[in-house]
Amino acid sequence: MATIEKCLFPAAGYGTRFLPVTKSMPKEMLPLVDKPLIQYGVEEAMAAGIHGMAIVTGRGKRALEDHFDINYELEHQIAGTGKEELLAEIRNIIETCTFSYTRQVEMKGLGHAILTGETLIGEHPFAVILADDYCVAEGDGVLTQMVKLYERYQCSIVAIEEVPREETFKYGVIDGDMEEDRIWRVKSMVEKPDPADAPSNLAIIGRYILTPDIFELIRTTPPGKNGEMQITDAIMRQAEQGRVIGYQFKGRRFDCGSVKGFMEATNYNYENFYPNKD
Ligand code: G1P
Repeated sequence: MATIEKCLFPAAGYGTRFLPVTKSMPKEMLPLVDKPLIQYGVEEAMAAGIHGMAIVTGRGKRALEDHFDINYELEHQIAGTGKEELLAEIRNIIETCTFSYTRQVEMKGLGHAILTGETLIGEHPFAVILADDYCVAEGDGVLTQMVKLYERYQCSIVAIEEVPREETFKYGVIDGDMEEDRIWRVKSMVEKPDPADAPSNLAIIGRYILTPDIFELIRTTPPGKNGEMQITDAIMRQAEQGRVIGYQFKGRRFDCGSVKGFMEATNYNYENFYPNKD
């Protein structure tokens, strides 16, 4: 049975909503307190048993590669001091995961970013994390919940959550039949519909498990919303064949692509994970 061994992180976007900080710094390196967004995503993938991290980067994203590498000078400086333990988590990540990178040369949409990652993924089912959707959950992480579901369904899975109807224009939105609690068989999906046209208020958030035929579907699906290659449109073609599950995950998501969501996540993490930090 195919298991999920790799997780793809599209990380080439400009992060214009956070300018000027993202002028020379990748938005994925913005910290929630002391850990960059991308590291939370990598930790969520690791918790799901995935150790192959495939990152689609772009110009100006070198800091991502440096983060998941040893910094000899720094580590030499703090060796033997109490500060060494501050690097314990990231050391563990570097030692237990492999990181591979490829560059997206032109920004042609999320579908295009995922297609760019094909060379890193190959012919296997894989996970996708959009690091700016930061997720917390009690018990199993969101991707762990989805990997377990994949073992049962062996088809593409999109994480979904209910959003206020007036916000459907920000998301991919599904239409489907509920098969059991939290599990929907997706019939169709549409990228960023006006509230009046949205088939439901079940929005796709940035966690996917995709079967590898998705690459050919992306290649052969015409550009959609905003003239971009939309992953939603390619997954829609799998949905037409009944091969997509929508999963209402257990947990909470913060939209760290917006300043408001980012601040909420920062405060949440500070309150919950840093009780003794001054
Ligand atoms: C992307 C997807 C969209 C999805 C969203 C989740 O949009 O295109 O379908 O709902 O991520 O965060 P973006 O936020 O990149 O515009």
